[in-house]
Parts: sequence; C-alpha cells; structure tokens
Amino acid sequence: MKNFISVHDVNNINQLVQSALAYKASPLKDQALGQHKRIGCLFLNPSMRTRLSTQIAAQQLGMEAIVFNVGAEGWALEFEEEAIMSGNTVEHVKDAAPVFGKYFDVLAIRTFPSLKNKEDDYSELYIKQFIKYAGIPVLSLESSTLHPLQSLTDIMTITESLQANPLPGGKKPKIVLTWAPHIKPLPQCVANSFAQWVNAWGEADFVITHPEDYELSEEFTKGATITLNQDEALKDADFIYVKNWSTFTDYGRVYSNDPDWMLTREKLQVTNNAKVMHCLPVRRNVELSDEILDSPSSLVTQEAGNRVWAAQAVLAELLRNK
Ligand code: CP
Repeated sequence: MKNFISVHDVNNINQLVQSALAYKASPLKDQALGQHKRIGCLFLNPSMRTRLSTQIAAQQLGMEAIVFNVGAEGWALEFEEEAIMSGNTVEHVKDAAPVFGKYFDVLAIRTFPSLKNKEDDYSELYIKQFIKYAGIPVLSLESSTLHPLQSLTDIMTITESLQANPLPGGKKPKIVLTWAPHIKPLPQCVANSFAQWVNAWGEADFVITHPEDYELSEEFTKGATITLNQDEALKDADFIYVKNWSTFTDYGRVYSNDPDWMLTREKLQVTNNAKVMHCLPVRRNVELSDEILDSPSSLVTQEAGNRVWAAQAVLAELLRNK
C-alpha cells in the first residue's frame, strides 16, 4: 500500500480487518515499526475521532504524531495549477507539500468538500495534489468524497460483531445503509465510502435506502440494491448504517428533512434484531432516536473505539511498504 485514499489501495480487505483486530488484541506488538518515524496530521476541517484515534494509533506503533490545523492556523493553501495567487491564498500546495515531505514520513490529511461545485469536489484535487507533491505516503483522514478509515472501521466492527454472534448457517449479513434527516447539508463521503467498501468486500446482502432525489453516485453504489422504501429495506436487516447526506445530482442541497426517516426502535421490529451503526457525531432525535443510541442495539461507541485499530493497521501497512 503506497497511499490510503480509497478501497482501491487495499489488496485484501479481510486481511486488513484481521490486522486491525490483531492490534486490538495486542496494541503494542509493533512498537518498533514506527520508531524514529513521524506522521503529520493536517486538518483543514474539524475532527474529534479521526484526530485522536490516528494519533493514538501512530503512538502505539512507536511513531511521533504532530497535528497541524492547517485550516485554522496555517497559511491558506492554493491547490489550482498555474493559479495567479492575487487572492486570499498565501502558499501553493506545490511549495508546501514538499516541505511536509521533508518533515514527516507519512502525511495524513482531512479535507471536506465545498458542496458547491460537484466537479471540483469529485475531482479530489486537494488530496491528489498532496500525493503529487509531498513525495511520501499520504493517508486520507476523510477527503471530499470518501472516508476510508471510517469504512475500514465499519467492516471491522461488523466482522467483530459477527464473530461474537454468528448468523445461522454462516448466512451473509443483510446490511442496510439508510439516509437520515439532518438540519444541514452534509457531504456524501461517509455514505459513498461505506457503499464502496461493502460492495468491494462482497460478503453481505447490501441495500441502500433514501428519499427520492438522494441517489448517490453509481460509481460507489453499483452492486447494491437501492430502494426508496425504508420499511421494505429494513426487513430482516442484521446491520443498519444510519447517515445523512445532501443531494448528489442537484449537488449539495437539502430536499428533505422528513422526520419519518429517523430510525426509531419501532422500525427495528421488522429487522433480525439489527445492530445499529453511525460514524458520529450524531444529531440525537434527528438522525437517530435516544432509545436506539442508549440501547444494546447500538454499536456506535464500539465503532468509534475501533477507529484506533483500523488506523493502526493502515499505518503499519504504509510503514512496511515505505
Ligand atoms: N467519524 C468521524 O470521522 O468523526 P470525526 O469527524 O470526529 O473525526
């Protein structure tokens, strides 16, 4: 693995999941791997879980982690090639990224989409420019369209849950990704990425449900069953992944805030005692009800905890292949 930007950087998802589970069982087993190595974690946007779990993962591999809030504390970066920099941007990524490449052994970056221009966001210019100019492995901490560390964690969490409570006859789990209401337009990253990883994993009966006009890009959903009927989708579900996203086709809009799409305990009655997942942060009683989040059906805290081990497995791969 040279960089970690999407599922396409992974040779074998199950092997990476097993590596994450092995780190969970024995966090310090590879402390020598990252000795005298440094990771730079650049944040152009806010984060809690990704920021902390990546630092912990790096430290457990013996690395030093330095966090830099580029968005709030650094010079405003320019990403366009041949830009005439007479506006607000102060430093070109072409100049900044090679400097990061001198300071660090691995560069980790969080950027969000603008949600204003679909072509720009889906070109993934920011992260691609860092890869082009940094000269060291680049790890996505969430980009304009994808959140691969979250998705690896999600498959790890599903695998772990199935190991603890296997389905009868080794049946494939039914996994449902359901849209949920939200007060703000949110990126499609987590939903795109979850769909991309579950499809690539191939070990689930995968259904996506959302209101009309909330179709995600087929680039990520191809292979899933897609329905506008949430009740139908939830039937016999083993895992339900709850997430809001803004519209993709008419880009970045909120067409619906229909509270009927919030997942409630009542809706779980038609499922196979489904476990409920969410990447967090979650808007309680908007996206997901208290009664689910505070019940044994919820995997959200286990899922967030697993972010450490997923990050550790990926960082270890990047260090081994450096
Ligand atoms: N799930 C997730 O990425 O959380 P943060 O935004 O807090 O990092």
